[in-house]
Amino acid sequence: MNKRIAVFASGRGSNLSAIIEAVKNKKIRADLSLLVSDNPQAGAIEKAKAAGVRVALVERKDFGSKEDFEKKIIEHLEENKIDLIVLAGFMRMFSPALVERFKFMIINIHPALLPSFKGSHAIKDAFDYGAKVTGVTVHFVDELMDHGPIILQEAVAVAETDTPETLEEKIHKVEHRLYPEAIELFVEGRLKVEGRKVSIR
Ligand code: GAR
Repeated sequence: MNKRIAVFASGRGSNLSAIIEAVKNKKIRADLSLLVSDNPQAGAIEKAKAAGVRVALVERKDFGSKEDFEKKIIEHLEENKIDLIVLAGFMRMFSPALVERFKFMIINIHPALLPSFKGSHAIKDAFDYGAKVTGVTVHFVDELMDHGPIILQEAVAVAETDTPETLEEKIHKVEHRLYPEAIELFVEGRLKVEGRKVSIR
């Protein structure tokens, strides 16, 4: 039986589109069963709907506590029998309890070479810092921000002619190729985690 994926997105959803495309083309051999978003304005919601992907909108403001907010998320994940949680621009940290409940079942993409430039403005931060090389990281999620074991990484050179916008374009292009690749490795059961090291079998 196919593995079932949930994508989590708070924003425009270009990585979601790349994943939808890769599932369609069988570059990811799994079912894209659910989009979870915490933002009713997220472009990702329309993209999911257009592709026939079920959408769960779970807004933090509708819950008295983070625990209740996450309880609702877990309900959706269980209802949909999710095997892999793919964070694609989901701008919230999960509690240690949720991370533990789905240990090594949550992956994230970050637009820099971790551990450099953590946080939510990584592309601009690398650009402003004057980095000559930045890149993309796909990693398992642990209880710390942008921290868990690294699955795939790819460097992107910063040209002298780059602007934050052109650099962002370059990074997104790499993301849209690298994330489906990492997801397929997970789906095929080829990732082995030992401490911080992830080997590909
Ligand atoms: C992506 O560039 C992703 O790497 C970044 O958010 C963007 C979402 O774009 N994530 C982080 O910065 C996480 N720290 P998208 O909505 O077009 O896929």
